[in-house]
Amino acid sequence: MAKVGIFVGTVYGNALMVAEEAETLLAEAGHEVKIFDEGTLESWQFYRHHYALVITSTTGQGNFPDSIVPLFQAIKDQVGFQPELHYGLIALGDSSYDNFCGAGHTFDALLQEQGAMRVGELLEIDALQHPEPETLAIPWIKKWAELIAS
Ligand SMILES: Cc1cc2nc3c(=O)[nH]c(=O)nc-3n(C[C@H](O)[C@H](O)[C@H](O)COP(=O)(O)O)c2cc1C
Repeated sequence: MAKVGIFVGTVYGNALMVAEEAETLLAEAGHEVKIFDEGTLESWQFYRHHYALVITSTTGQGNFPDSIVPLFQAIKDQVGFQPELHYGLIALGDSSYDNFCGAGHTFDALLQEQGAMRVGELLEIDALQHPEPETLAIPWIKKWAELIAS
């Protein structure tokens, strides 16, 4: 079974709620899971040969929540090529804003640029359509749990 680090970017707690749901479901599927609500480069590097699940909302005008800015910046500035990394991405946003799920897409673009392998499709959760983000997240997480087990 896989080791999974869940790296969270949140302002109001929605992304953390999704992360806690993911922690429960992934653990139930037999995976070893840890949540990082203020992830560091050191914790990220541990999962480089395992799995990272990034769950971030978007704030400002397509910006990252403060809690995940240092991690994103450190990966961008210090990591470089990381083709051995497997990751998943859940982006929370609100389609009434211009840069819908902008932070999630920016993180995904960086990891793609660095050669990392995304497992599954990026999940966008629109707060306008889904006031309870876990309704959309649960089936995606269950599928992701299967993908990383195979
Ligand atoms: C001040 C503010 C700015 C926001 N800016 C964006 C944005 O640019 N793009 C987007 O898709 N969503 C935006 N959102 C919506 C949030 O990403 C969405 O409500 C999300 O569910 C919040 O999750 P969180 O509680 O984990 O921070 C914004 C919300 C607020 C309150």
